Amino acid sequence: MALATSSSLIAFNLKPSLSTPPQRRRSFVVSSSAASAPISTAWNVESWRQKKAVQLPEYPDQTELDQVLETLSTFPPIVFAGEARSLEEKLAQAAMGNAFLLQGGDCAESFKEFSANNIRDTFRLILQMGVVLMFGGQMPIIKVGRMAGQFAKPRSDAFEEKNGVKLPSYRGDNVNGDTFDAASRIPDPKRMIRAYTQSVATLNLLRAFATGGYAAMQRVNEWNLDFMERSEQGDRYRELAHRVDEALGFMGAAGLTPEHSIMTTTDFWTSHECLLLPYEQALTREDSTSGLHYDCSAHMVWVGERTRQLDGAHVEFLRGVANPLGIKVSDKMVPDELVKLIDILNPKNKPGRITVIVRMGAENMRVKLPHLIRAVRGAGQIVTWVSDPMHGNTIKAPSGLKTRSFDSIRAELRAFFDVHDQEGSYPGGVHLEMTGQNVTECVGGSRAVTFDDLSSRYHTHCDPRLNASQSLELAFAIAERLRKRRMNSLQSLA
Ligand code: PEP
Ligand code: CO
Repeated sequence: MALATSSSLIAFNLKPSLSTPPQRRRSFVVSSSAASAPISTAWNVESWRQKKAVQLPEYPDQTELDQVLETLSTFPPIVFAGEARSLEEKLAQAAMGNAFLLQGGDCAESFKEFSANNIRDTFRLILQMGVVLMFGGQMPIIKVGRMAGQFAKPRSDAFEEKNGVKLPSYRGDNVNGDTFDAASRIPDPKRMIRAYTQSVATLNLLRAFATGGYAAMQRVNEWNLDFMERSEQGDRYRELAHRVDEALGFMGAAGLTPEHSIMTTTDFWTSHECLLLPYEQALTREDSTSGLHYDCSAHMVWVGERTRQLDGAHVEFLRGVANPLGIKVSDKMVPDELVKLIDILNPKNKPGRITVIVRMGAENMRVKLPHLIRAVRGAGQIVTWVSDPMHGNTIKAPSGLKTRSFDSIRAELRAFFDVHDQEGSYPGGVHLEMTGQNVTECVGGSRAVTFDDLSSRYHTHCDPRLNASQSLELAFAIAERLRKRRMNSLQSLA
C-alpha cells in the first residue's frame, strides 16, 4: 500500500464533496477525444445523478439517507491518493508484461463473517499465492484484495422467490440483509456507516500485517495455512518455500540484509466494485496535491458487467475519479463498445488507469477476446488485461446451490494465456473470488470438493469462492504459464 510507504501520505482537502455548496463545487473538464461518446464533458461528484442509474437501491426514507451521506462525507478518507497513484504505476507495468496482478477476496464481504482470523487467512493466502506467482514469473506481483469495502452486489434478478414467497433480492451488506424476510430486505442507509467502519478496521489490520513484520519474506515458511498441512498443495508450497529460503540465504550473503524494508514489508492494495454510488460519492475527496478527485473508499474500483453502460451513471461517476479503474467484460461486450468505454474513462490514455477484467468462459474467450485485443490495440489504447475466470463459470449444483467447477476455472485461465500468446499481448493478471477459509463452495481441485460436499461448509454471501487449497493449486498452474512465457521470451532473445 503503498501500505508500506509513509511518504505517500498526501494531505487532503477534507472539504466533503457532498456538502460543498454547488457554486463552490469544483467541476473540471475532462478533455475527451471520444467524439462519439454520448457524454457531456463537465464532471462533478454528482453529475452521475443526471444519468440513468441501474442496480441502485430505493431507500424508503430520503431524509435518513441524506443524513447518513452527510455524516459519511465528514469522515476521513479510507485510503490516500498517493497510494492509488502508486498502484496505477504498478498496473502500468503489468500492462507491459513486467508485473502481474493478483486481485482476490470475497465475492461479498459481510458483517457476520467479519473477524481478524478471516482477514488474516485471506491475506496470508494472497501472500502465499504471490510467492508462487513471483517464483514462476520472476516478476513483481501486485497484490490487491477484494477486501475492505466489497459490500455491494449487483443482481441479475431484482426479486428472489422461495416457497412461493417473493422478496427483493439481497444487494450486499451495505444495502440490506440476506435473511429471507421482508424487513431484512428493506434498504437501510445506516448499513453504509457499518460498511465504512468495517472497511477501516479491515484495512487497519491489513496495514499492520503488511508492514508490521507478518509479511516479512523470512516468514515464507510460516504462511502455510494450518489445514493445508499434509495436503498436496501444502506440500508443494512447503517445497517452494524451502527454495525461497535458500534464495534468501544467498541474497543475504550477497549483501541484501534481512532488515531491508523490501524484505520486511509488502505492498497491498484494496479494491471493490464501484456500485453504490451515493456511498462512493460521499467518500470522494479532492486531492490537494493534484487537484484531482479520488474515490477514497478503496485504491482501485471497478465497474461491473451490469452497470457499464456508456451513458449510464456508473461510467459518468468513474470517468471523473483518478483511481485506477477496472472494467468487467463478459461475452456481451463488442470491440467497438469496449474502445468507446475505454476512451470515456481514460481519454488521456494513461497507462495503468484501465484494467480490463475479462469474464466470459473458456470457449467464448477463445472466440471473442482476440477481437477485443485487436480493437483496443488498433485504437492505440494501453490497458492491463486480466482474467476473472469465476463469473463466466457459475452453475447450479443438483442441490440448487450456486457453484463453479475448478476445471472450468482452470480452462478459462488456460484460454486467457493461449489467446495472449497467440495475439502477442500480455496477460496482466487474475481476479479471483477466494478465501483463506477451508470452505466447500467450488467443486473439484486436487483435494476434490464434490456436489455432495457443497453444503458442509458453504458460507459465501453471494458467489462461490475458491478455498485455500484450490486457490493455491490455481496459483501453481498460473505460475507454470508465467514460467513458460518467460522461457519463450528468453529463447526468442537468444
Ligand atoms: C463480481 O465481481 O462479484 C461481479 C458481480 O462481477 P460481474 O460484474 O463481472 O458480474
Ligand atoms: Co461475484
